[in-house]
Amino acid sequence: MTKMKVLFDTDPGVDDAMALLLLARHPRIALLGVTTVFGNASLDQVVHNALYLKDLYGFSAPVARGAGRPLEVAPGEPPAFVHGDNGLGDIPLPARNEARADMIPAHQLIIKLVRAHPHEITIIAVGRMTNLAQALAEDPGIAPLVKQVVIMGGAFGYNGHCGNVTAVAEANIIGDPHAADRVLAAHWPIAMVGLDVTMETVMSDQYLAELATTGDDGAFVRKISHGYQDFHRKTINLDGFPVHDSSAVAYALHPEFFDTINCPVRVVDHGDCIGQTLAKDEGDAADSFNWEGRAKIRVCTGVESQALLNFYRQTLVGRAT
Ligand code: BDR
Ligand code: CA
Repeated sequence: MTKMKVLFDTDPGVDDAMALLLLARHPRIALLGVTTVFGNASLDQVVHNALYLKDLYGFSAPVARGAGRPLEVAPGEPPAFVHGDNGLGDIPLPARNEARADMIPAHQLIIKLVRAHPHEITIIAVGRMTNLAQALAEDPGIAPLVKQVVIMGGAFGYNGHCGNVTAVAEANIIGDPHAADRVLAAHWPIAMVGLDVTMETVMSDQYLAELATTGDDGAFVRKISHGYQDFHRKTINLDGFPVHDSSAVAYALHPEFFDTINCPVRVVDHGDCIGQTLAKDEGDAADSFNWEGRAKIRVCTGVESQALLNFYRQTLVGRAT
C-alpha cells in the first residue's frame, strides 16, 4: 500500500490532538513531521503538547517549534475558555521539556521535507498559517513541489456558517490574516475545509461516551474534551462539539465525503471584516480586491457527516481503510 506522506501543522489544542490521533493511527498515513504554531495556547505550551502527544500516541515524526506570533497583526490571548489553560482540556501533563523539539525551526522543516519528497507531501494545516507563509517567503520554489495543502480554516456562509471569532471570521484565519492570504495566493493545490462543513459534523455526548468504551484512544478523546464540550453547550447550545481539525484529515483521506466548489479565495486583512474569507465565483462583478494571478482553490461546501463520524471511530478501533 502506498502511504500518504503527511506534514501536520498544528496548535494542539483539543481538536488538533484528536486530528493528530487519526494521523498516528490510520494505516494509509506516513506522518513525516509535526510543525507547531501559536494559537490554541502559547507556542511553548503547544510545543510541549505536541511532544506529549508524540509519546502518548507513539509516533516517530519530529516535532518542530514554529511561529510564536502572527506576521503583522497583534497577537491575541490564547482561547483558554475553549481549550483549557494548557490547551488540552487541563488534563494533568508532565513537566514541560520543550528542549526535546527538533533543532530545525518549523518553516525550515517544511522546506526540508518538501524538497526531500518532491510532489509527495500533503500538508495538513489546522492552525494559523504563519509557518507556511514563512516557508514560502524563505523558499517560494516549494509551492509547485507540494502534492496538496489541506487547510482547516475559513468560512464562506455555506450551511449558514460565517465565523466563530467574529460574525465573519474563523479562528485560524483571523489569528494571522496576512499569512493566510499569502498561503492562499501561492500556486500549490489547496483544499479549504472551513466552518461551512466542520460545524456540520458533531460528535454528540452519546457518540463520545461510546467512543470512550472502545479503548485507550477513545478514552483519551473523552478525557481531553469535557471542557470543550461544555464550551459548545454553553455558547451555542450544542450537544457535543463540531469536528474541526479532524475534518481536514478526513478530507485528505476521503475527499468523496465532501462537496466542493473551485474558485480563488482572498482574506480581508484590515477593518471590521478582518479575517473574512471571500471566494470569487465565476460570474462575480469586479470588486475592490485584486484577484490577478490567484489560482483556484477547492472549497468544501457540504459533508457526509455520518460517514465522517464512522471514519473517525473506525480509525481509532483499527478498522480504517
Ligand atoms: C479552529 O480553531 C482552533 O481553535 C481549532 O483548533 C481549529 O483549528 C476552528 O476554528
Ligand atoms: Ca487547530
